[in-house]
Amino acid sequence: MDGNGRWAHSIGQPRTSGHATGSKAVRRVVTACRKRGVEALTLYAFSEQNWQRPAAEVHALMCLLRDFLESERREILDNHIKLRAVGRIERLPPLVRAILDPLLEESRNNTGMVLTLALSYGGREEIADAARRLATRAAAGELDPSSIDEALFETALPSMEVGPVDLLIRTGGEQRVSNFLLWGLAYAELYFCDKLWPDMTDVDLEAAIAAYQRRERRFGRVCNEPLVTSPTTTRRREPRFSLSVPEASGIALRARG
Ligand code: FPP
Repeated sequence: MDGNGRWAHSIGQPRTSGHATGSKAVRRVVTACRKRGVEALTLYAFSEQNWQRPAAEVHALMCLLRDFLESERREILDNHIKLRAVGRIERLPPLVRAILDPLLEESRNNTGMVLTLALSYGGREEIADAARRLATRAAAGELDPSSIDEALFETALPSMEVGPVDLLIRTGGEQRVSNFLLWGLAYAELYFCDKLWPDMTDVDLEAAIAAYQRRERRFGRVCNEPLVTSPTTTRRREPRFSLSVPEASGIALRARG
């Protein structure tokens, strides 16, 4: 969700005002995705590297996150959204955890869109954390190291609970992945747009989805060849947007048919 700072700068406001307006865009995009039938939406709200920003900006972001969770609680529950969080959540301050943790619990059995917030998140960190957990189990004799393949490794990656990414949208004109969902992005379609995040609307979301639907996804195969299921391709299913032709700074979508 890139471009908050530049948006604020363009109207002579402090960066935090860009984040506040960006927060309104979050509401718009979550609603648009839910109505569009998106199965899973992951928002890169705060990276592990964002802790290096000035303390006042970090604090403002944490307050916005708390405000968002408070104001959207009813919306999330009434629309059966399952809220998840990935990242080093233990680093978040109590003001966020006090509202985040109960809402994660309250919504855990919801069966609607899965909304994942990447918070204190880094793709490399997630992979390193997973490797450490598996190595610990192997050292304790609970896991045979020779059984570790891609499918098993994925089970240790919280971001992969919703499956691999179909579409990554990055706003703000940057064309980087910036340590977001590194494993799940392996075969994602990447969509970059110049719109600054606070200006993002449902029309921009539709444009991204339409571009995605025009892409041909081959997953390393040749065109139109049927998907062959193997231990490493079992979770790599065809996208399910209804048309069969679908930094911290990105949003990632899983499609639904
Ligand atoms: C990157 O833009 C954006 C962030 C680091 C924070 C994103 C946070 C929000 C949109 C609001 C709070 C989150 C939720 C889920 C309510 P930047 O500031 O780096 O932009 P720039 O490249 O223009 O400086």
